[in-house]
Amino acid sequence: MKILWKNQIVERDTVKIDIEDRAYQYGDGLYEAIRIYHSEMFMFDEHFDRLARCAKEIRLELPFSRNELKENLEKLIALEKITEGEAYLQVSRGIKSPRNHLIPLPGTVEAILTANVIPIKRDIESQEKGHTACIVEDQRWLHCNIKSLSLLGNVLSLNEAVEQGYDDALLVRNGFFTEASASNLWFVIDGKLYTHEDGNLVLPGITKMKLREIARELDIQIIEKAVPVTKLDQIEECFASNSIHEVTPIVSINEIPVKDGKRGPITKLLLEKYIEATI
Ligand SMILES: Cc1ncc(COP(=O)(O)O)c(C=O)c1O
Repeated sequence: MKILWKNQIVERDTVKIDIEDRAYQYGDGLYEAIRIYHSEMFMFDEHFDRLARCAKEIRLELPFSRNELKENLEKLIALEKITEGEAYLQVSRGIKSPRNHLIPLPGTVEAILTANVIPIKRDIESQEKGHTACIVEDQRWLHCNIKSLSLLGNVLSLNEAVEQGYDDALLVRNGFFTEASASNLWFVIDGKLYTHEDGNLVLPGITKMKLREIARELDIQIIEKAVPVTKLDQIEECFASNSIHEVTPIVSINEIPVKDGKRGPITKLLLEKYIEATI
């Protein structure tokens, strides 16, 4: 299997990761997960824009240009013969020895890119039947708008949910829903679509961006405002969105069915239109 490492396409088993790589020691780095349809990356520019914005926020200098990254990933997709799949890339701040929390001075460390591409298929069963979820206290840091490699809060939340027999965790901070463990969260209440406003408490999803556009075209009213848990009994539909799984209905929360426990009409329509946009 070929991968991208330091802007070169190489065989995966030839890569050496240093034990003092800051991504490995601190989770000091960023990542993106981009969906591939028909051998092409979907919304690559939007993913790159988010990566560049996050890099600026954590003071990491990206070791590639937009075009360089795009061309190399396209080459990798062709070499690995991926028609439908995922491109995962991460950028570590680099290797610094001896280990020290402080961000190394510019020019003393070089950021390192790694990326791979894998085939994946649309999970039609989950998209139709939906997932069960439970509410978990949002235990993440306060920079959730940064797509950081440090995902322990998300990892522990999902694990807590799965250990209790649920498919996913709906995160709640100060009584308001923020996100699911690896996706943005949406609700239909009184026929209107709600999702948490962008800001430091949620990741500004690329799928969210596309769904916002689609909802506007469909004249579905969107309110970007956090939904309080106290509105649980008023939720008509709920779904999660991310690049890899697109739109996943949440059909029960803490074992209470959302409406009739089946995917709702707005969720279905948004997914259909989203899929149309990927063709
Ligand atoms: C916590 C979190 N929120 C939202 C998203 C959705 O982001 P996107 O639509 O860009 O994939 C993700 C995706 O991984 C995520 O991990």
